[in-house]
Amino acid sequence: MVEKGKFIVLEGIDNCGKTSQIDLLRDFLNEKGIQTVVSREPGGTEIGEEIRSLLLKDRKELIFPLTQALLFYASRAAFNSQVVLPNINKGVWVLSDRYYLSTEVYQGFVQGVTREILDDLHSRIVVEMNCEPDLYALIDITAQESFRRDGNLDNLGQSLVYEKQGLLFREKLRAGYLDCARSRKNVTVIDGMQDKSKVNQELTALIGGMIRQIKNI
Ligand code: TYD
Repeated sequence: MVEKGKFIVLEGIDNCGKTSQIDLLRDFLNEKGIQTVVSREPGGTEIGEEIRSLLLKDRKELIFPLTQALLFYASRAAFNSQVVLPNINKGVWVLSDRYYLSTEVYQGFVQGVTREILDDLHSRIVVEMNCEPDLYALIDITAQESFRRDGNLDNLGQSLVYEKQGLLFREKLRAGYLDCARSRKNVTVIDGMQDKSKVNQELTALIGGMIRQIKNI
């Protein structure tokens, strides 16, 4: 019987370093002979990429928050059925940049979609599809640090409506992440203010434990 792969998600506010940490983790796993697939949310499937462009398109007005949440979850259902499950079932590990905590923060905490609705979507599309991550890590940095790492603000582009908003907004996002992480017991908070290599060490220590469990050593 093939040993199932694991599903790992990294989250955090802009510039927390999740994308570069995912690249480092992919290399770490590959060196251990573990096959990986790296993906992002929203996206990862053809329909998901189409939903992504709908969501991230520059508009005069924000899309109604509940509509946003349903679109993110529509993309997530495709992601789970086409990326997460088939890969872990054949022993491939899936590394994802963002997952449902983003919806709980951006659509819930910030824009007021209720916990009841989000819990319902979570139980249908995450729990019932058996796609709760094996490791869900939040890389926490302050809003000031997020801005400091922006460097050239002109690079933000890409109609990322959120990123164009100010420091207070990022502070709210950070508070939202910490709050939502507390209410979801499976989320591990990692101090992203540390050196990139320290963050990587913490993540590989957690993942090393998961590998040892599989290999039973
Ligand atoms: P992306 O370009 O992937 O940003 P990043 O590099 O910061 O991950 O854009 C994704 C945007 O979508 C980001 O601003 C967060 C937002 N988002 C939500 O609002 N809800 C969600 O459920 C997800 C997955 C993302």
